[in-house]
Amino acid sequence: MAEVGGSGIPSGPYGPPARVAVLASGSGTNLQALLDRFNLGDDEAARVVLVVGGDAGIGALERARAADVDTAVVEEPGPEGRGLLARLQAARVDLVVLAGYLQLVPAPVVRAYRGRMVNIHPALLPSFGGKGMYGSRVHQAVLESGVRVTGPTVHFVSEEYDEGPIIAQWPVPVREGDDAARLAARVLEVEHRVLPEVVAALARGEVRLGEDGRAHWGRPWLPGERFELSAEEGPPEPDREGTG
Ligand code: GRF
Repeated sequence: MAEVGGSGIPSGPYGPPARVAVLASGSGTNLQALLDRFNLGDDEAARVVLVVGGDAGIGALERARAADVDTAVVEEPGPEGRGLLARLQAARVDLVVLAGYLQLVPAPVVRAYRGRMVNIHPALLPSFGGKGMYGSRVHQAVLESGVRVTGPTVHFVSEEYDEGPIIAQWPVPVREGDDAARLAARVLEVEHRVLPEVVAALARGEVRLGEDGRAHWGRPWLPGERFELSAEEGPPEPDREGTG
């Protein structure tokens, strides 16, 4: 990769494979996308070695067990996050991915993994993020605002909800007649492609957190020939019945 500065912030390449922990509080479809590419697929840049659930009964933990990945449950990490940090360190993880994780990550854990911990959010930050903005509330707020484009953001995790340096985004058009569920489903499909791509890039050292507090890529971000995401959707058809 191109030289992007010599800060003390750790960066890849890690491994291979980079050892990845995923923190999740829900059904875990983003986790599944990572498992499909790295654990069950043939990309050896990374491997999910630990899944931490914010609750015992969640689908993400079932997906982890089905893929033979170690699991842990941390319902309340507490302000110091000692239990969580101990689990991550015991598993010797290089990267931490928040994939639908609802708790605020305790500051000592953020510090320990600065530049190595990322979150996926289902809207284009810095809009439609922050405390309480998760799940269908995000998509509802997008619809109410009248914006015409939404889409996922992957960012480095900082001490505040959804405020860390942005690594990657991808546009998803908001369509006439969308409701929160339909929009969420279209954005989620794109999340499943963007998140593994970012994890692979972090693992290979192709993107890193610079000392200027921004993410820097050492190669073009998402070359078109590798990514034909929501581009297939194009703009909505004109309304031929209405006034246009
Ligand atoms: C995703 O929309 C993600 O962006 C958000 O929470 C949702 C998690 O979905 N942070 P899943 O559990 O990965 O299916």
